[in-house]
Amino acid sequence: MTTDTAQTTARTATLRLPDAPEYTLPVVVGSEGERAVEIAKLRDATGYITLDSGYASTGSCASDITFIDGDHGVLRYRGYPIEQLAARSSFVEVAWLLIFGELPTAEQMASFSRLLTDNELLHESLRHHFEGFPPSAHPMAMLSAMINASSCYHPDLLVEDGEEHFITSTAKLISKVRTIAAFSYKKSIGQPLIYPHPERSYCRNFLHMMFSIPYAEYHCRPAVLEAFVKFLILHADHEQNCSTSTVRMVASSGANLFASIAAGVCALWGPLHGGANQAAIEMLLQIRDSGARVKDVVEAVKAKQFRLMGFGHRVYKSYDPRAGILKDALRAMMKVSEASDNLMEIAMELEEAALTDDYFISRNLYPNVDFYSGLILRQIGIPIPMFTVMFAIGRVPGWIAHWYEQRRHGGRIFRPRQIYTGHTQRDYVSLRERGCAVDQDCSHSF
Ligand code: CMC
Repeated sequence: MTTDTAQTTARTATLRLPDAPEYTLPVVVGSEGERAVEIAKLRDATGYITLDSGYASTGSCASDITFIDGDHGVLRYRGYPIEQLAARSSFVEVAWLLIFGELPTAEQMASFSRLLTDNELLHESLRHHFEGFPPSAHPMAMLSAMINASSCYHPDLLVEDGEEHFITSTAKLISKVRTIAAFSYKKSIGQPLIYPHPERSYCRNFLHMMFSIPYAEYHCRPAVLEAFVKFLILHADHEQNCSTSTVRMVASSGANLFASIAAGVCALWGPLHGGANQAAIEMLLQIRDSGARVKDVVEAVKAKQFRLMGFGHRVYKSYDPRAGILKDALRAMMKVSEASDNLMEIAMELEEAALTDDYFISRNLYPNVDFYSGLILRQIGIPIPMFTVMFAIGRVPGWIAHWYEQRRHGGRIFRPRQIYTGHTQRDYVSLRERGCAVDQDCSHSF
């Protein structure tokens, strides 16, 4: 069901507004029974707009891609439960599913995997761009900049030219994002860049580029690979979150795929969104290093001194299903490798304290995907500044799917209205009238 096909029902809602004619609003229903009142013509008919800061009650589009039932902790990609995909699918298969709507046939899977391999290298000149960043550059800044820069080397991809062409653009982007991410890490620690290996799968190849060095090949343990694949699948889409809405908004202006995804990376960076995985682990480290008791941390959160990072969600008012899967995956990985992590112990103690405390219960605050994801990345050996980049690698297929849907069905440019609250009209007063002395030279103001 898309914007074109969302069901307008026979039911309507009636709106009575001061100084405006009574207005009848169509009621629209989605395939899982979600209801909306359609207000697209409200302003033309009544002169009113709706005001919803933070968009908590605003649907920006109809979409076929991902379904969330936040009250019951349900997440499905194209109808498939996240639990099944995380347990049985691969990241590349999920990427295809999200972007093209169906699980790939064996032939589609083989040819798409081939395309990913064929496009895994960066243009050698593009490689030199990494030299322009200082060693302290945040990898999210590099990722966004390099995605945009890479479009300069593929001008053919900036135009839309049918589905085959789009498949190639998609493969290029998914493949190159992985190479850019690994290169930016190697650059930040001053190690030689490791080129992708054409015989490795998407996820194994990434870990190879991150952790191999020219004279010592990284050998990936199966439990690590399994946890990493799950991590990427669980991050692959989450309907109209901040970064995806950004991608759709940029796409609505007609901007190309690379520009739109680079904008999505920037939106993801913030600590209330993808940056929460970095913020959550830093919070756990701070608790550990300060020796603070979990009980006191919870009290400080309740006193609004800070937020519990990795907790709470705009849509989930129950346990985020991704957090549960990641927690189990983390435990399984740690069991196989007989690892321990005192941050994991603090996290579990925090979770237990929060879930039995009225502050968190009454506000429906549960662990979200970012609470345990950082602990998984830590076990894999990913350094903290790379955490949000890992989220971005996972989210790229979702962003592409939404970009594509927006372009095919979106229609109008995104252009919200506002209620203006600034000064009403007033007249300009010159600098001299505002106190610049007659003999003073005010020309520098030009
Ligand atoms: N810790 C403590 N209190 C919280 C938290 C938290 N993590 N999250 C929300 N609250 C409180 C908030 O103070 C407010 O309380 P009150 O009613 O007394 O003012 C109430 O809960 C509602 O909060 P809100 O800010 O209106 O909720 P929101 O839907 O606008 O924000 C959120 C959602 C995810 C930004 C927020 O829960 C938060 O800041 N969480 C921490 C950051 C985080 O983990 N972000 C990752 C989100 S999941 C992955 C992703 O989207 O990338």
